[in-house]
Amino acid sequence: MITLYLLLAIPLALYGVYLVSKRKFRYWEQKKVPHLPPKPILGNFSEYILQQKFYGRVEQEICNKFPEEPYVGSYLGTEPTLIIQDPEYIKTVMTKDYYFFSGREVSAYCEKEPLTQNLFFTYGDKWKVLRQNLTPLFSSAKMKNMFHLIEKCARIFENMVDQEVQKGKDIEVRGLTAKFTMDAIGNCAFGVETQTMVKTDNNPFTRVGDVIFDTARMRALKGVLRSIWPAMFYSFGGKAVPADVDSFFFNLMTSIFKGRNYNPTSRNDFVDLLLKFHNNKTVTGDSMSNLKGSSGKKVSLEVDDEFLIAQCFLFFAAGYETSATTLSYTLYELAKNPEAQKLAIQDVDNYLRRNDNVLKYECVTELPYVEACVDEALRLYPVLGVITREVIEDYTFPTGLKLEKGVRVHLPVYHMQHNPNYFPEPEQYRPERFLGEEKKNIKPYTYFPFGEGPRLCIGMRFAKMQITAGIITLLKKYRVELAPGMSETIQFEPRSVITAPIGGIRLKFIEREGWQQRVFKVPSEA
Ligand code: HEM
Repeated sequence: MITLYLLLAIPLALYGVYLVSKRKFRYWEQKKVPHLPPKPILGNFSEYILQQKFYGRVEQEICNKFPEEPYVGSYLGTEPTLIIQDPEYIKTVMTKDYYFFSGREVSAYCEKEPLTQNLFFTYGDKWKVLRQNLTPLFSSAKMKNMFHLIEKCARIFENMVDQEVQKGKDIEVRGLTAKFTMDAIGNCAFGVETQTMVKTDNNPFTRVGDVIFDTARMRALKGVLRSIWPAMFYSFGGKAVPADVDSFFFNLMTSIFKGRNYNPTSRNDFVDLLLKFHNNKTVTGDSMSNLKGSSGKKVSLEVDDEFLIAQCFLFFAAGYETSATTLSYTLYELAKNPEAQKLAIQDVDNYLRRNDNVLKYECVTELPYVEACVDEALRLYPVLGVITREVIEDYTFPTGLKLEKGVRVHLPVYHMQHNPNYFPEPEQYRPERFLGEEKKNIKPYTYFPFGEGPRLCIGMRFAKMQITAGIITLLKKYRVELAPGMSETIQFEPRSVITAPIGGIRLKFIEREGWQQRVFKVPSEA
């Protein structure tokens, strides 16, 4: 019976969408904004919606059809979406007139599920108050205080890598590095030893991570449907976050809260901060309207467990896969570029010599070449190929183009960072772009792998900290080469929300001479 109902309902819904799309497809023409002719229902994103091409590349191809235009009109499915490609206009959207563009995309629907009520998806006063209260957790002082946990994870990682190398096979580095970053975020954010590097079989954290980033066809389709037609998605009972992920985080966090008797400890980690919110019952901060000119208006939000657990879920999801992927792309490019690898290795060896083989927080700033290698990997492979915004109040650009509340605006990170006008020979991996004088020449708002403006990635410092620690741990003992059969160009997974390589990244790890002089020391024994 249900099947029959679906067989009737789906074609009817599609026909409804088709009729609506015919009307909506006049939007850019009426506004005199350059655009490509849309396809029925799928608009200009058919290859993305049908899971044939990666989001960032689809948007790059649209922009490349209009190289001289500051912005391009497009239809994401049936939905009018303005893609901005002029750095000055990108600045307007992300920073200068941020207030008007402060929604993420389909923002209002984040209330539909417990775990989507998080900082990434939410908007308006709720976003502002949350952001203000969560920002202190990621200050450099807090990162420095947490670093001892990362250092400990790095020593465990050191052993795990050795064990993997001893198996004598090629290594898929995305899976390998994810075990390290997952344990790092587990320790720093939740005070939990996830054991992902020790108990590798059937580890519950690895399992839940696999569910969150599952790229199976149906799961990817749900993500696309929610992002384009959220009303229809939820009316058919759709859910962006699977029920087992909900229950995993609910059980995990409540047991951690109980373990601390619902009182903050001296660890000063994320859980402590949450418990402070929990005990106060509310969290207070500025209203969004203050950004528009009215001053001093305060807003209080009620805090319940669901709301807190949604933030935990986000830190876990945003915290490990993004960094593991970036770490893997960096190693992949170093494997392809032996000269760059030589310089990165020198940076690592010099650092360890200066610090008597102890990994310290300052590594984040003391390895400039390694930092440039990561920056360049993030240019070629930004974790999000497209950053989204939503107009939250009618806005008129200086050109006279008016966008109404609810219209989507996209910042095409992948396209900008591969644009030869801003990055000559854009497909070449050249860390030197991010060093000395050359770095100063990078035009603002052409490179933004962590986003920009008030919605900039809150975990950027944390990410850099764990990525640098991971690279030092690997390169101090091993040199990397592409595994036999590993392609020299990456094909991106069209079904993934992040810029993920199809088939992973397989490398060979080759022991370096003299590694015995670079074994990590425990800080207290140094
Ligand atoms: C290489 C690693 C990472 C990359 C490339 C990355 C990239 C991004 C990007 C592009 C955004 C959207 C920014 C915007 O809208 O302007 C973002 C937002 C966010 N990221 Fe990250 N991220 C990384 C690691 C992390 C880590 C480690 C955490 C947490 C521990 C984190 C937490 C968040 C959160 C909470 C947001 C939402 C911020 C908001 O909307 O106010 N990210 N990230």
